[in-house]
Amino acid sequence: MTTTDLIADPNTTAEIPGPATPYQDDIARYWDQEARPVNLRLGDVDGLYHHHYGIGEIDRAAIAASDEGDREKQVIAELHRLESAQADVLLDHLGQVPGDATLVDAGCGRGGSMIMAHQRFGCRVEGVTLSAKQAEFANQRAQQLGIDRSVRSRVCNMLDMPFETGQVAGSWNNESSMYVDLDDLFAEHSRILAVGGRYVTITGCWNPVYGQPSKWVSQINAHFECNIHSRREYLRAMADNRLVPQAVIDLTPATLPYWELRATSSLVTGIEEAFLSSYKDGSFQYVLIAADRV
Ligand SMILES: C[S@@+](CC[C@H](N)C(=O)[O-])C[C@H]1O[C@@H](n2cnc3c(N)ncnc32)[C@H](O)[C@@H]1O
Repeated sequence: MTTTDLIADPNTTAEIPGPATPYQDDIARYWDQEARPVNLRLGDVDGLYHHHYGIGEIDRAAIAASDEGDREKQVIAELHRLESAQADVLLDHLGQVPGDATLVDAGCGRGGSMIMAHQRFGCRVEGVTLSAKQAEFANQRAQQLGIDRSVRSRVCNMLDMPFETGQVAGSWNNESSMYVDLDDLFAEHSRILAVGGRYVTITGCWNPVYGQPSKWVSQINAHFECNIHSRREYLRAMADNRLVPQAVIDLTPATLPYWELRATSSLVTGIEEAFLSSYKDGSFQYVLIAADRV
């Protein structure tokens, strides 16, 4: 299966309210047009399409081919293994999820994390994205796997999700919280989560110890048209919205090998130096925060 097998069918795209602001319209367009090899060729490895980064040590033996073409394929497979490992760590922090529960992936991209969540917990997984192309892609992927009754992606604004109050056992943002105001975002997660429910985010954030967003952080913002928040903003906005952190994990050391390998691959996008430099100078951090809805 490759990305070319997944052709958008506008007839099956859910009818839901469109983006709420001109900025969100721009972001919808960005993700509708996004087709970088670093995302698609990695997803082609096993049909789990992610738009996030990897964590964990490189398996050097797995990228040791002497032929250049073979090595390239091995590097792609290894980078993909690390991005799926990242999603596994996020899912680990959802804790026990019963099969009759509903989970919500806010900013779900092409749905890789949603499929992994369903495969792990057997439960219903609802995703929202601003991009009609992504929602379509994720739904077709779920259909191909025969899990489309349980895994569904919709076009909608994660600040105004189409879910009943207090009905969701767990929700997450995997590298999607830098597109929105955190108070608005956590108020909405807090609304949909049941009391005792679990929220998890993995995100890049700027480090208040550095002082202000560094030039590298500004470059990343410009590259992705996003607005990276500080670590302090995350913790404050959670505290203000009944989300009590149970784990705050600095994944920066764990993501460096992914970036170092990616920087030497044929899949470079030009943003690698900004990530590597800001992680190394301490101005930027890759963190996981898991919080309970109280
Ligand atoms: C970097 S991608 C991450 C995708 C996915 N979470 C993953 O790990 O592969 C960012 C995602 O956030 C979504 N997004 C950004 N702002 C959003 C909003 N206001 N409402 C819903 N989705 C949003 C984009 O449409 C895109 O799917």
